[in-house]
Amino acid sequence: MSKKIASARISEASSELLRELNNSLPFDKLLFREDIEGSLAHAFMLSSQGIISNDDYILIERGLKEILSEIENGTFSLDRDDEDIHMAIEGYLTSKIGDAGKRLHTARSRNDQVALDFRLYVQKNSLILAKLLIENIKTLIDIASKNTTTLLPGMTHLQHAQPINFGYHMMAYASMFKRDYERFMSSYERNNYSPIGCAALAGTPHPIDRDITAKKLGFKEPTLNCLDTVSDRDFALEILFNISTMMMHISRLSEELILWSSSEFRWITLDDRHATGSSIMPQKKNPDIPELLRGKTGRVNGNLVGLLTVMKGLPLAYNKDMQEDKEGVFDSVKTATLSLKVLNEMMSLTKVNVENMARACMVGHLSATDLADYLVKKAGIAFRDAYHIVGNVVNMAEEQGVDISELDVKQLQSIEPRIQADVLEVLNNHNSMNARTSKGGTATIRVEEQIEWMKSWIENYN
Ligand code: ARG
Repeated sequence: MSKKIASARISEASSELLRELNNSLPFDKLLFREDIEGSLAHAFMLSSQGIISNDDYILIERGLKEILSEIENGTFSLDRDDEDIHMAIEGYLTSKIGDAGKRLHTARSRNDQVALDFRLYVQKNSLILAKLLIENIKTLIDIASKNTTTLLPGMTHLQHAQPINFGYHMMAYASMFKRDYERFMSSYERNNYSPIGCAALAGTPHPIDRDITAKKLGFKEPTLNCLDTVSDRDFALEILFNISTMMMHISRLSEELILWSSSEFRWITLDDRHATGSSIMPQKKNPDIPELLRGKTGRVNGNLVGLLTVMKGLPLAYNKDMQEDKEGVFDSVKTATLSLKVLNEMMSLTKVNVENMARACMVGHLSATDLADYLVKKAGIAFRDAYHIVGNVVNMAEEQGVDISELDVKQLQSIEPRIQADVLEVLNNHNSMNARTSKGGTATIRVEEQIEWMKSWIENYN
């Protein structure tokens, strides 16, 4: 049984089981930096407002800074019996500096304290993740720049559809990551308001100045309504959603890497540093890394749904249910940070098998749409009629076991006499890719534009 530090009313010591259920220190110790940073700002404000003396402030500041370095160098361990990180640090501070330590909690509650610490953590990590996304976009731009003429079959329904280039495909993922970046940044802006000074739920009668703490902590300004502030975990839900969406993109890319590295495709070769073997089959080289990235997406989605579910029935204001907000966020942030680092390294080491991609373009009559467009433009044939003529051409190619781009002019004319020699240019896969010059299309010149656009976006917005 242990003594309750934060209770004036409860005389009995807590039961072991209660402490096991109730204590958050085993996981919220991760917030020690944010807790100390928040307390430093709060104490500074209290002394500027004359709520505590300057002498007390000096003791508190020195004590907190000492505690920070003791935690960092391991001389003060947070594997303790305190209820949470807030009590652990405040208790240790008081044991160090005496009465001044007991004045730190003036005009503050753990409700606004935890809302502050957790928000600082989320804000900090949103910026870290956004920066890692930029690194990944740069890597994709790099791969794209080298592959604006590397042909591969573009697909719908995982069936060969039209020829595109690999740079185009990489820029599709760069575009997704740009949106992910923007999502982290807009959440950062939306949540950049300071919770501290809201106290338990209703504000405080002490003459505090929330603008001082907000400014000191790097927030835009204090939040508007304290009842909302101590009840609000939208900032945590936003980072969870932002991570889930980003991981969904990473998962789709991983899925493609897994397919492309299989014997059926052989379009890419994963670097040996990013593949593992089998314990029984000596010939195996498995794409464990993209598989893990794909798999981890499941867990981060679970964390999002978990917190949405915790929050859905809570009356205002703080409820202890909300202590369940942290573990999922810590887990998702850790997973997302590692995933982005691994993905970046893996992509930059992946070998593109240009010839195998080109060979795949000779399967599936990728330029069939081009032939239909040719008949429309050249001979004024209605598109639907042209569509059926091309169907017959495809049947002929299939019967001969070749791609339509391998048929000669005579064979083509036997189906449609209005076809002329210039058709061969049209059926060529490379020309087909380059014909798609509409804005945002796959033509090499358009992909080069997309690359330039993305490069200048990175320069101007970072
Ligand atoms: N450990 C708590 C949490 O993470 C801190 C806030 C506790 N507040 C309270 N009134 N019990 O949510």
